[in-house]
Amino acid sequence: MSARLIDGKAVAQTIQVGLQARIAERASRGLKAPALATVLVGEDPASQIYVRNKRRTCETLGIRSVPIHLDAGIDNAELLATIDRLNADDSVDGILVQLPLPRQLDATTVIERIRPDKDVDGFHPYNLGRLAQRLPTLRPCTPYGVIELLRSTGESFHGKRAVVVGASNIVGRPMGLELLLAGCTTTVCHRFTRDLAAEVARAEIVVVAVGKPGLVRGEWIAPGATVIDVGMNRNADGSLSGDVEFAPAAERAAWITPVPGGVGPMTVTMLMSNTLKAAESRAA
Ligand code: GUN
Repeated sequence: MSARLIDGKAVAQTIQVGLQARIAERASRGLKAPALATVLVGEDPASQIYVRNKRRTCETLGIRSVPIHLDAGIDNAELLATIDRLNADDSVDGILVQLPLPRQLDATTVIERIRPDKDVDGFHPYNLGRLAQRLPTLRPCTPYGVIELLRSTGESFHGKRAVVVGASNIVGRPMGLELLLAGCTTTVCHRFTRDLAAEVARAEIVVVAVGKPGLVRGEWIAPGATVIDVGMNRNADGSLSGDVEFAPAAERAAWITPVPGGVGPMTVTMLMSNTLKAAESRAA
């Protein structure tokens, strides 16, 4: 392997230390702790793990966690009533509704009901629109975390050819907006892209967020590229792997993220950063 590893755990830790200090400094001025409400609907095992991790990280950093667990069978009106209550609660700075939601619930309606200044996931059309207009406020956590990982390499973004593989609302699309904001010439690939190999081979920065193990072949990676793998796929033996064939990609890339230990630790860290930001702007 010739690529250097981008250590997401270390970058996340550095950012968390800074957040912890800012939160402690607020407390020393008599300000209340930032508060994050995490809404979990039902018993999806992966969602339970993600939400538990978010709640624990809150406690580590001095953010007040407001855990809300709703029954899998609730209807839209009940979930919207919960959002309305949290929107109106002055002691709550951030609201996160863990996705995916059970089938009978409509995620779009729910996301649009969250007050944009409490939308710490950055999924509300107001916050995405601000990002699209180069006026970022609360930024989607995973793409924001990827930008921090790219920044940690010390390489410049300006004029770089960036290719995003995957066009989901949560990662791919906002990732495209973030890279554009950072000055890259940005292409977003998706299921109708005709020649994915050729698109990836042109890229100086590749971000892959699809959820298919090994989708991006190592031989597609341009020599010297930076490769960010957002994929988190569970193998039959219980281990995790990304969307990029790691070993052959690492032979060619200059920088690459491991899975696990790359993007994963950044998502929760940027959620904490957004929660502090929401608290700071409410106090202002
Ligand atoms: N499900 C998968 N990723 C996310 C995320 O970043 N936020 C929320 N709320 N749900 C998710």
